[in-house]
Amino acid sequence: MSTTTILETAAANYESYTIKDLNGCVVLKNVISPERAKYYCDKQIQWLKNFDLGFDENDESTWTAEHLPISFKGGMYYAYAAAHEKMAWEARTEPAVIEIFEKLWETNELLCSFDGMNISLPRRKDLNWSPWPHCDQNPNRKGMQAVQGLLNFAPNGPKDGGLMLMKGSAKLFDEFFAQKREQYDHEDAPPPELQYMDLFLFHEKDLKWFEDRGCEMIKVNMEPGDFVLWDSRTMHYACLPEGNQIRHVQYICMTPRRFATPKALELKKYCFENFIGTTHWPHWYVVLDLQHGRKLINDSNIRPAAEKPMRNGKVCPKDRSEPFEKPVLTERLLQLAGVKDY
Ligand SMILES: [Fe+2]
Repeated sequence: MSTTTILETAAANYESYTIKDLNGCVVLKNVISPERAKYYCDKQIQWLKNFDLGFDENDESTWTAEHLPISFKGGMYYAYAAAHEKMAWEARTEPAVIEIFEKLWETNELLCSFDGMNISLPRRKDLNWSPWPHCDQNPNRKGMQAVQGLLNFAPNGPKDGGLMLMKGSAKLFDEFFAQKREQYDHEDAPPPELQYMDLFLFHEKDLKWFEDRGCEMIKVNMEPGDFVLWDSRTMHYACLPEGNQIRHVQYICMTPRRFATPKALELKKYCFENFIGTTHWPHWYVVLDLQHGRKLINDSNIRPAAEKPMRNGKVCPKDRSEPFEKPVLTERLLQLAGVKDY
């Protein structure tokens, strides 16, 4: 699987879905129904209102940071135990979502990430935003090692923000990193002490490098209920909406359980039991670096997202360590969480 592209896998396994081929990324149409997608939109709005900060989805004057829980880049929510809200687990355990990853990895024994959600309000005037093209795979990892995904809940057209990606960039990953590359010191880059092993922020000139080789930055448009998968080597970022539509997304990623070491499972269990989120990597990785005949063990893949949400230099008074609505603990959920054996 390591050198296969998503599309080669998708073409073979996803006959039941309409597929949009974007070279390094696939959009699977109607994975959940529009009604189900609407359910998640409503749940996400209710979640914002649960904080009692005065947010009103019908009053645009309340679409500012002071009326909202703390997010990353104006819409990505990782703190407040958001990763373990009932609605997040409901999305992860939608049968069609699990099936996508079962087919992708050709196994039923999967682990799921405890990743966040995206609720982006359009036309925010209080945000200082800049694009942050990046990839979520360490340059030392070769081949396709993770496939990220998101389940889209609201109409997402050209003006509605969302996933921007450099079409064709995954295939050029090794070539690009064959020489030493310096990361762009973006204002929103995580501080080095957080040890994001699998994040590389690109310079403007790097975009040109990919474009000169035939790649193209595109915006992925989606309808409610669509699911998008992209190779973690693909350059991408999320754009803020400028139209009238709120963006509603749950990030979801699953990988085979066999990829996880016992230590990874232990850490995953700790995160689960304490309602702590992670990045999109669901497992701890052992990578065989065949080029240099080494075994690289990266122990930073499951990176508990335990940082406190900070508001005006202090921990947000609304910080919480439990979801508002706890998930229903089914056997399948506990297996995906890595807490229960298959
Ligand atoms: Fe990313």
